[in-house]
Amino acid sequence: MGFPINRMRRLRANETLRRMVRETRLCRDDLVLPLFVVEGSSVREAVASMPGVFRFSVDQVVDEAKRVADLGVPAVILFGIPREKDARGGGADAAEGIVQRAVAAIKAGVPDLCVVTDVCLCEYTDHGHCGIVEEGKVRNDPSLERLAATALSHARAGADIVAPSDMMDGRVAAIRGQLDAHGFEELPILAYAAKFASAFYGPFRDAAESTPQFGDRRAYQMDPANRREALREMRLDVEEGADVLMVKPALAYLDVLADARREFDLPLAAYQVSGEYAMIKAAAERGWIDGERAMEEALVSIKRAGADWILTYAAADVAERLSA
Ligand code: PBG
Repeated sequence: MGFPINRMRRLRANETLRRMVRETRLCRDDLVLPLFVVEGSSVREAVASMPGVFRFSVDQVVDEAKRVADLGVPAVILFGIPREKDARGGGADAAEGIVQRAVAAIKAGVPDLCVVTDVCLCEYTDHGHCGIVEEGKVRNDPSLERLAATALSHARAGADIVAPSDMMDGRVAAIRGQLDAHGFEELPILAYAAKFASAFYGPFRDAAESTPQFGDRRAYQMDPANRREALREMRLDVEEGADVLMVKPALAYLDVLADARREFDLPLAAYQVSGEYAMIKAAAERGWIDGERAMEEALVSIKRAGADWILTYAAADVAERLSA
């Protein structure tokens, strides 16, 4: 029953028909905006490698949070950049740390905005690794206690969801245990379950000052070549009590996302990371592509592959266009 009985073009003839047969729609409810918070006041500093992205001090981040909530974005995810770093990432779980103060300020100013916190040590350690380093190696088990303490401090500050991104084994269970032991049994965990050792994190590491001072992250983040292993990682996080699973980066890992969609009933998140965002912005600045269309095409592809939530630096811009 091929041509000429079937003509695929019949339903593509005009925008009304195309609207009617469209299978995937990006909407504001899908979006989560990452925000970088720095020390100081009245700071609103552009990140050179990520056009349109800023590092805000706590007072300014509240204004930004208000703006994005007004645009209909339901959630933000916070990354803190402390003034001082040390070997064990002491700033990560400080009661008055940068993220803890930002969470409290945003929840006070914009109570309905969902505030997710990234739980990791790399922005707080002087060596830039995501865990505790001993004899030149990132040690798994000693890192768990630090990560669980960090998640608990975020919960105490008022975070709505905690999101561990370190890729240590057993950290979801360690965090769940610590939260439950302190009365936060209702607080959800968004696990960066399948996080790959990716070149696409380059601009983020500039923005967050979290580049490893020696070696790289390949002994804890996943090998980009591994698809089956990603399912094992996600299954383990489900067993440990993750409420939402994340695949990161997004565009180069849509197969992993599609696998996860088939395999799990949990909500799925995908992170369009700094490098994915920067590539589109840079090409658009040179006039080589239409930046808005390319961004939307990338985001729709992420949703089509199976993501429920999309973490993207373009969240506010896209929400603005969707509401227009
Ligand atoms: C922290 C963390 C990273 C990103 C999110 N959380 C950096 C890394 O693992 O090196 C990357 C986000 C991005 O590139 O936009 N562990």
